[in-house]
Amino acid sequence: MLSVDRCLDPLLKRPFSLFRKSGSDFQILYRVAGRGTAILKDKKAGDIIKVLGPLGNGFPKLKSKISPILVAGGLGVAPLFSLAERLADKNPIFFLGARNKKELLCTAELKSIGIKSVIATDDGSAGEKGTVVSLLNKFLTSCCLRLISSCLVYACGPRPMLSELSSLAKKFKINAYAAFEENMACGIGACLGCAVKTVNGYKRVCKEGPVFSLDEIIW
Ligand SMILES: Cc1cc2nc3c(=O)[nH]c(=O)nc-3n(C[C@H](O)[C@H](O)[C@H](O)COP(=O)(O)OP(=O)(O)OC[C@H]3O[C@@H](n4cnc5c(N)ncnc54)[C@H](O)[C@@H]3O)c2cc1C
Ligand code: FES
Repeated sequence: MLSVDRCLDPLLKRPFSLFRKSGSDFQILYRVAGRGTAILKDKKAGDIIKVLGPLGNGFPKLKSKISPILVAGGLGVAPLFSLAERLADKNPIFFLGARNKKELLCTAELKSIGIKSVIATDDGSAGEKGTVVSLLNKFLTSCCLRLISSCLVYACGPRPMLSELSSLAKKFKINAYAAFEENMACGIGACLGCAVKTVNGYKRVCKEGPVFSLDEIIW
């Protein structure tokens, strides 16, 4: 959670994923969405930003002999990038989706760390035309049962994408985990503003999440 300004306006901190980290340094990857991120964009080297974090859980560890598949929609690549870096020796496949070529992120960075990415864009301006979930569906349909049973999916993206992915994971009986990005206010579990409905009642994205198993979520 970043305080984007030193005076109390905007009052609420803004949540971001850890994009890359090294020791106590970290990077975020962000899109200017509104006032807070516009203020962030104008920061200069040496400016001070208050940080609360890291908060919440992370993606579960991969067991041996499991093949990781990463699925990102738009800025969903942000929390998955350092996971891809860590899993590089397991040959993950990174399904990367965006509305169009201009909004595709991190393709060069993924290539530079030796990760194979498969691309889908809504308008077909890069990779295959369609959603990243339909591309994953095609891929899984072409795989043998043995490979499918060894897959584990890690994802982040807009809620409709995650909902579709949840149905796909159910169809292929694959475990899938996703980082959720509900709007947040406090970030520390106090306001309940970020709760999502799960089979075990409401859970706070900032505290019990942001990563949940997709079969736990009630859409
Ligand atoms: C756990 C988590 C991780 C996130 N990681 C990243 C990240 O790595 N990079 C990044 O760019 N953004 C990320 N976001 C979204 C980011 O927090 C918002 O874009 C940001 O708070 C907007 O602040 P703002 O003041 O610029 O815009 P505001 O003026 O607050 O809002 C502008 C627009 O953005 C929308 N918005 C606000 N919060 C969210 C949200 N959580 N999800 C989707 N839309 C939102 C609002 O509905 C509004 O339409 C994350 C959100 C969460 C909850
Ligand atoms: S943001 Fe307040 S409980 Fe999660």
